[in-house]
Amino acid sequence: MKKKVGIKGTGSFVPIREIPNSYFEKIIDTSDEWIVSRTGIRSRRMIQPGQAMSDLATSASELALEMAGVSHKKLDLIVVGTSTADMLSPSTACIVQHRLGAKNAVAFDVNAACPGFIYGLAIAQKFMQDGSYRHALVVGGEIVSNRIDYKDRSTCVLFGDGAGAVVLGHSNGARDGEILATQIYSDGDLWELLYVPGGGSRIPPSYQMLDKGLQYVKMQGNEVYKYAIRTMVDSARKTLESKKISCDEIDWFIPHQANIRIMEEVAKRLEIPLDKVIITVHKYGNTSAASIPTALDEAVRSGKIQRGDLILTNSFGAGFTWGAALFRY
Ligand code: ACO
Repeated sequence: MKKKVGIKGTGSFVPIREIPNSYFEKIIDTSDEWIVSRTGIRSRRMIQPGQAMSDLATSASELALEMAGVSHKKLDLIVVGTSTADMLSPSTACIVQHRLGAKNAVAFDVNAACPGFIYGLAIAQKFMQDGSYRHALVVGGEIVSNRIDYKDRSTCVLFGDGAGAVVLGHSNGARDGEILATQIYSDGDLWELLYVPGGGSRIPPSYQMLDKGLQYVKMQGNEVYKYAIRTMVDSARKTLESKKISCDEIDWFIPHQANIRIMEEVAKRLEIPLDKVIITVHKYGNTSAASIPTALDEAVRSGKIQRGDLILTNSFGAGFTWGAALFRY
């Protein structure tokens, strides 16, 4: 019989450096009014020079472990969802393992862009359901601020940095919390809608690559927008249907925090009222894989989300990748 798996603790960490929309008004042709009305974003956090993904991820993980009351020595698995790892190799998960001293864990990254956290949750759930592992750490984190072209006004205003984490353990269900369903999808035919061309094996680092700005995010915003809505609604519906749960039964909805207009449209199509939607995009921007676990952690720590609440979350991103998770906290 499959074992039940629940979230035992949450944690998050965002850099202290706050970048309001007025910063962009000084460097590109944009306005606070445009950014707020098209995206809902008012501010975002960005790292200080020298900070890396594992710094944010380790801080978020320590907080999650503390809340869960689980020692780092008990971790069997560490999955880090990120597309902005510290280095090309090794995985950021191995660096986090080292920083935590989690000697008994196996650690690896999942590069699924924004749904990286949902992918990580799905992978950890499977390993834990079959009893292979007893405790897992799932992190979603991203440092996008050094992958964006500050001359490209259609992308640079959108993103921010951060990391969030959850500690998973076996559960008795009900008020002990339980991950009820996870679903993940991808469609590689759409990879050119959102990508970072340079720095990998296709276009390795070179002065020419840097001159052409190929190290930066390239995005067809309008196309991404349409697919985002379609895939988020579809994955949410399929995930709910798999457990015969209706949208009315959801206590909280945590969509990927990319753009308030996408979030509102998805909530509308799912018929989830906005007062049940957790929103952090106004203060952190789009933090990619970090957006869901940081929003979850803030809602838990503020007392909004209570033990036993039923939560639906979904995301989309570069790949194209998308997915949803349904869980009782
Ligand atoms: N300030 C002022 N004007 C701007 C800016 C800006 N920052 N950016 C674009 N514009 C201009 C455009 O140049 C265009 O001008 P034009 O009509 O003279 O050509 C006009 O605004 C309209 O541009 P659109 O791209 O049509 O604006 P839209 O309303 O679609 O908003 C946006 C753009 C915000 C990028 C939107 O398409 C979007 O949110 N897409 C989804 C992006 C996303 O979520 N990406 C991340 C997903 S995956 C992940 O999270 C990693």
